[in-house]
Amino acid sequence: MQFIEISEINSTNVYSSELLKNHAVKDDTIVYTFNQTEGKGLGNNKWLSEPFQNILMSIITFPEIQVTDYFKLNLIVSLAVIDYLKLLGIKAKIKWPNDIYVNDKKLCGILIENNISGNLISSSIVGIGLNVNQIFFDKSIPNPVSLKLIRGIDYNIKEHIKILGELVLQKIKQNINIDFEILKNEYLKVLYLYDEYTEFQDINQKFTAKIIDIENSGHLVIEKYNGEVSKFFFKELKFL
Ligand code: BTN
Repeated sequence: MQFIEISEINSTNVYSSELLKNHAVKDDTIVYTFNQTEGKGLGNNKWLSEPFQNILMSIITFPEIQVTDYFKLNLIVSLAVIDYLKLLGIKAKIKWPNDIYVNDKKLCGILIENNISGNLISSSIVGIGLNVNQIFFDKSIPNPVSLKLIRGIDYNIKEHIKILGELVLQKIKQNINIDFEILKNEYLKVLYLYDEYTEFQDINQKFTAKIIDIENSGHLVIEKYNGEVSKFFFKELKFL
């Protein structure tokens, strides 16, 4: 395992993907920066982060799992971030599909990009943006929070990149061959708004429903008051 520090970069995920394209990494690698100028979020979203205040890193790893199991990595990484926050005394939840929430506010976003070779995921880039010492946020960010806003203290960014990065890699190693169903049980226990009626919006309408399951494809399964069950993929559903 190695760490690569870059003081400023467009995106640690983009940089990691170039490293992989150039066959410049063969082993688990953690790329991190202090200033990310074009941070990527899920879909077309941007990830905005004040320089030198937050964790901005991409973990390059080689999971060698079946393509159909790709969502396992999402479960494991999300659970690793929950474990890390527990170490800091913070109780957090996973907001499907890729956010970590503390008391209805977003602390961390995860962006996993996979490379496929045949039926296998040959390499994955696990991008993690976690708000640490930043206390003022751009108005365009819906409901952000940081470790400092939660705990009232400053953290050493570099030290925490190491702690979180190592913890995520260790959790991947220990869990990647575990059954989806077993990981899912752990995931559902800390899933934001699991089994609680709440307001959602799909492309057609607003409705009240509760989350009842997650499929290995990454689909969220919800049930409406009238018992009707439907499945949604990333970006097909909004929490209101
Ligand atoms: C999201 O919430 O939509 C995911 C955000 C992921 C942000 C991280 S910051 C480090 C890495 N590099 C990027 O460009 N994005 C991820």
